[in-house]
Amino acid sequence: MTAIIMDGVAVAKATRAQWKVRVDALKEKGVTPGLAVIIVGDNPASKVYVRNKARACSEIGIHSEIHEYPEDARPADVLAKIIALNSDPAIHGILVQLPLPRQFDVAQILETISVDKDVDGFHLYNLGGLIAGDSVFPPCTPYGVMAILDHYEINLRGADAVVVGRSNIVGKPQALMLLARDATVSICTSKTRDLASYTRKADVLVVAVGKPGVITGEMIKPGAAVVDVGINRTADGKLVGDVDFESARAVAGFLTPVPGGVGPMTITMLLANTVQSAERFAVGATGRKAGV
Ligand code: GUN
Repeated sequence: MTAIIMDGVAVAKATRAQWKVRVDALKEKGVTPGLAVIIVGDNPASKVYVRNKARACSEIGIHSEIHEYPEDARPADVLAKIIALNSDPAIHGILVQLPLPRQFDVAQILETISVDKDVDGFHLYNLGGLIAGDSVFPPCTPYGVMAILDHYEINLRGADAVVVGRSNIVGKPQALMLLARDATVSICTSKTRDLASYTRKADVLVVAVGKPGVITGEMIKPGAAVVDVGINRTADGKLVGDVDFESARAVAGFLTPVPGGVGPMTITMLLANTVQSAERFAVGATGRKAGV
């Protein structure tokens, strides 16, 4: 068997075109969706991500603004900026690029972002909403994984799903989203004994640990849908995922490549969350529940 390659570039392009229609409709009503991105320090990867996010916004007509701070920025200044953006009517989404320098309390920063503008979905209220089944903004990467699985019509209902990785950004929300779609979900970690005994049973396997080659073809159930969230740079500068692509391709039924798989979908879902936020603001139906 040779896996069908799940083409994140193509799915992202088609999905962005659909969201652009909604941006155009908002603009006809006089509303331009707006995203504010805060970046602190000189992390080169973060700079590339932020640039890509801003470019993706402008391609579908979303206003974006980048607020840059030096590595030694005072947390109080960044908190003050977030508070100002929370009440800025031109801004519907606020994103603080991670990681932050050591002087920052990341939880404090994330909890300061208004739940109604938390398009990254990292606020505790939004993460908690995933458990309750009513998250205002699903976190972009696992949301993108769900979108690519849906695009390729992968059955989730009753499927055995295994998530390798338990980060707050990907693994844990991913598991909850799969559970919400009636998959039977296992979460594995770097400490899991006999990882292959889990992954070999997975109809749907999502891998997000940041370790190249952690999953090889022999650990995959024949015909499974395998989504590789890892982005790792090898010594010779090549980008690779967590899944050994060639051996996986020979066994899996569906497989995402790296690059060109989940990456473009993550940014697409950020656009989706921003547009949806603007739509909610436009009709006065922001997501935060009364009294919370
Ligand atoms: N750093 C790495 N990935 C992300 C992301 O999705 N959002 C933010 N804010 N920072 C990140």
